Amino acid sequence: MDKKLAEEMIEAAIGQLSYSYAPYSGFRVGAALLTEGGKLYTGCNIENAAYSPTNCAERTAFFKAVSEGERKFCAICIVGGKNGVLTDYAAPCGVCRQVMMEFCDPDTFRIILAVSKEKYEIFTLKELLPKGFGPHNLV
Ligand code: THU
Repeated sequence: MDKKLAEEMIEAAIGQLSYSYAPYSGFRVGAALLTEGGKLYTGCNIENAAYSPTNCAERTAFFKAVSEGERKFCAICIVGGKNGVLTDYAAPCGVCRQVMMEFCDPDTFRIILAVSKEKYEIFTLKELLPKGFGPHNLV
């Protein structure tokens, strides 16, 4: 993946940390999702006093994009840390990996885990969700 594009996505994901609503865990997460058309959709985690309605940053980004007609995606960047301080990679939870599986090709969809524009690693969805269950199973 192009370095400049990866850096742009990291910047956009970091920008979401200030919007994160995480009064219960204090763990702020930001995401930036790239469509095949080159558009970026951002998202943050949104917690809830009843806990289970909490929405992860990745799903916020996906649902924003899908609700605006997007269906094809190339990559997502995720950043997160306690109180918004980025010390380690914040890998996507299982539910978010499954949502990615619904809309993305596991062989080509890229997941960028970052702590800064200088320190990041790129994985395919297949690496993070081997043998995933998806729409192809239901045809
Ligand atoms: N969280 C995300 O936003 N994305 C993930 O993939 C993992 C967890 C959020 C949910 C919750 O608000 C906080 O991190 C702690 O679990």
